[in-house]
Amino acid sequence: MRFGYFDDSRLEYVITRPDTPLPWINYLGMDEYFGIISNTAGGYSFYQDARLRRLTRYRYNNAPLDEGGRYLYIRDNAEESPSYWSPTWQPVRQVLDAYECRHGLGYSTIHSEKNHINARITYFIPLHENLEIWKVEITNHRDQQASLSIFSAVEFCLWDALDDATNFQRNFNIAEVEVEGSVIYHKTEYRERRNHFAYFACSAPLDGFDTSRDAFLGAYRGWDAPLAVEKGHTSASIAHGWQPVGVHQVNLSLAPEESRTLIFLLGYHENDPQRKFESENSQVINKANVKPVIAHYLDEGNANHAFTELAEYWLSLLSLFQVETPDLHANRMINTWNAYQMMVTYNLSRSASYFESGIGRGMGFRDSTQDLLGFVHMVPEKARRRLLDLAATQLTDGGAYHQYQPITKQGNHDIGGNFNDDPLWLVLAVSAYLRETGDWSILDEAVPFDNRPGSETPLIDHLQRSMNYTLERTGPHGLPLIGRADWNDCLNLNSFSATPGQSFQTVTAKDGKVAESVFIAGQFILAAHEMEEIMTRLGRQAESQKYALARQQMEQVIDTAAWDGSWFRRAYNDFGNPVGSVENAEGQIFIEPQGICVMAGIGLEDNRARQALDAVAEKLACEHGIVLVSPAYQQYYLELGEISSYPPGYKENGSVFCHTNPWIMIAETRIGRGDRAFDYYLRINPSAREEKSEIHRCEPYVYAQTISGKEAAIPGEAKNSWLTGTAAWNYVAMTQWILGIRPHYDGLIIDPVFPSSWSGFKAVRHFRGSRYEIEVTRKGPGNQAYICVNGIDISGNLIPVPVEQANKIMVNVVIR
Ligand code: GLC
Ligand code: GLC
Repeated sequence: MRFGYFDDSRLEYVITRPDTPLPWINYLGMDEYFGIISNTAGGYSFYQDARLRRLTRYRYNNAPLDEGGRYLYIRDNAEESPSYWSPTWQPVRQVLDAYECRHGLGYSTIHSEKNHINARITYFIPLHENLEIWKVEITNHRDQQASLSIFSAVEFCLWDALDDATNFQRNFNIAEVEVEGSVIYHKTEYRERRNHFAYFACSAPLDGFDTSRDAFLGAYRGWDAPLAVEKGHTSASIAHGWQPVGVHQVNLSLAPEESRTLIFLLGYHENDPQRKFESENSQVINKANVKPVIAHYLDEGNANHAFTELAEYWLSLLSLFQVETPDLHANRMINTWNAYQMMVTYNLSRSASYFESGIGRGMGFRDSTQDLLGFVHMVPEKARRRLLDLAATQLTDGGAYHQYQPITKQGNHDIGGNFNDDPLWLVLAVSAYLRETGDWSILDEAVPFDNRPGSETPLIDHLQRSMNYTLERTGPHGLPLIGRADWNDCLNLNSFSATPGQSFQTVTAKDGKVAESVFIAGQFILAAHEMEEIMTRLGRQAESQKYALARQQMEQVIDTAAWDGSWFRRAYNDFGNPVGSVENAEGQIFIEPQGICVMAGIGLEDNRARQALDAVAEKLACEHGIVLVSPAYQQYYLELGEISSYPPGYKENGSVFCHTNPWIMIAETRIGRGDRAFDYYLRINPSAREEKSEIHRCEPYVYAQTISGKEAAIPGEAKNSWLTGTAAWNYVAMTQWILGIRPHYDGLIIDPVFPSSWSGFKAVRHFRGSRYEIEVTRKGPGNQAYICVNGIDISGNLIPVPVEQANKIMVNVVIR
């Protein structure tokens, strides 16, 4: 069952009924001001940090779902029988005569009609501005005059979202607002150490307003039935403490077929601390700098112009890589939605989504480095800055904080470190950046450790410390020690936690000298390959050799200690026993080592790669994707940690943890099985799952972190959509390995391994300033590529970077 459809020509997903299985959300904002918005206008806004600078409130586990948002009420003032509804359905939830929500790139439009009153609301954030625009168009399709009142409504958050939801003894005393003309200013704590405030402005003269929630809603009433809307008039309330809100009232009298446009702005502004008040002795906000911004965007022409700029920006980003394959789902994801989702993960890391409250997490070290693998070609300058920020949080021993805070850029102590995979992702991310851009200067950038002034060394040293971090921490079998955990945050082999509620992420009961990770071994080999290449190009042959040697040794360790007979083992636990082995009663085979080891080239020559991937197909693959582990753990195991805390088939305990699936797709291409790689791709492709939306539940236009697996009580349910490394990795798997268009240090590699049924595909790829038009034609069932560049045959798969950038490089590829 579907709840909408893709409008591919407009790059929109159109939701045709408001009661989707979950709020289906979109993101607004690209720079510093962001919002999430659901298909019924739920969601919230924040400046930079979803916890510390939250503008509006949102309640995650409310009944009904999705409460708190960018709300509007339309009141029909007909004398006999006044009525009201929300043109976005929530919060009133009156049945609408027509409804549609179009989520587009950086904007959402909700369009509805009730009793012949048509409303179209477009929400977006102009590029480089700290404000959002709600453009509201109301049309009277009746054959009589319509007397309406429009009410807007937001509920302000007292900035720190965690404190706002918990510290009531203080919070009920501090709210302050100002109202001037049609603008409501929220200025809680502005009197003391905050120099920022929020504003909510309306383009029309007001017929009323409220800033006190109690006054607007009335006692014991909810957002679905505000007393002020029921009565038809607000009460000019001024909030002193309690719950501040922003409500405008505008009365409209519309002739038949007459339309009116109202613009609302919700924004954030920071003042110079020396000039924050109107005059020295007043506590009134100095509005001199914000008023011109407000006036500018309340103008409809300027708002429209900002909307056009936003659309052009997105088109220019997407145009950097476009494909035309025989598969609709692949095209639509690669060309639009997957690329879009990657930009959102770049912006927000794992902080704010429908599933992430914006309170708990900073920017993840391994999360952000992996996100970069996907988006680097779209915004290389931003990737560069992100890499330097991340590297600056690295510790002198090469270790990493697991997260850092976006506002301060400091490592976050609360969640700790010693996730032993973290440092190696830095190597893989920097090498992806070098392959894409050829900007070797980044390696010379002076980067501090733990942000300590004076500790700067060139970035290349940081990469070497990452490698040493692994080499200095190996266990009894010579495999890397796992530390607190590796990529799988829930495989906690040193936690031994028996205390309810204790965080598996921060507790360690063992000295960590025994439990080892095969995943990190594979990751190390991948990273060592890159270091060999990098050092060679830097003319540091001896060091390149050193990494080659270390890699070969690790490969041998995998051969002797990690091969289980039919697949790769996952780890060794604190007792030195294998995890992910046929010897285990449960958890016999894990997906991660099969993916990473084959990606690293292990077993390609001696058939083990094929054996391992056949085991994946047989034991882990199901119709909803490839599960993480099988059989899932049926009980809690002290020595395994959080993984066994989840019921079977959920999250790390045997769901389809989508992030890992593209590793298998890539591995399949490495043994030349394009049909199987693409089959796996489609199983988790959200567009391909659209028709079972009632089962999948999450948005059909973005990847989710997890889909409950074959052993779950209810298989096929997706959760944690949007902010997942799945976006980047699927993009990499599809574009670089299945389509085989892969940046290399010296040029662009074309090495596709795609389904045998495809007659070919086309792609346009911008790379190092040139535009490549690639046309691939299948003339045989294999994967051997014969490449012709601008009419000249080349040998091998690498197209060297041309001496001069070119507007058009024609690449014709024949596959046999
Ligand atoms: C979450 C984390 C990620 C981790 C994964 C597997 O997605 O953000 O860092 O690798 O879970 O546990
Ligand atoms: C939980 C989740 C895991 C996540 C971790 C850190 O353990 O299951 O996916 O990575 O929390 O937030």
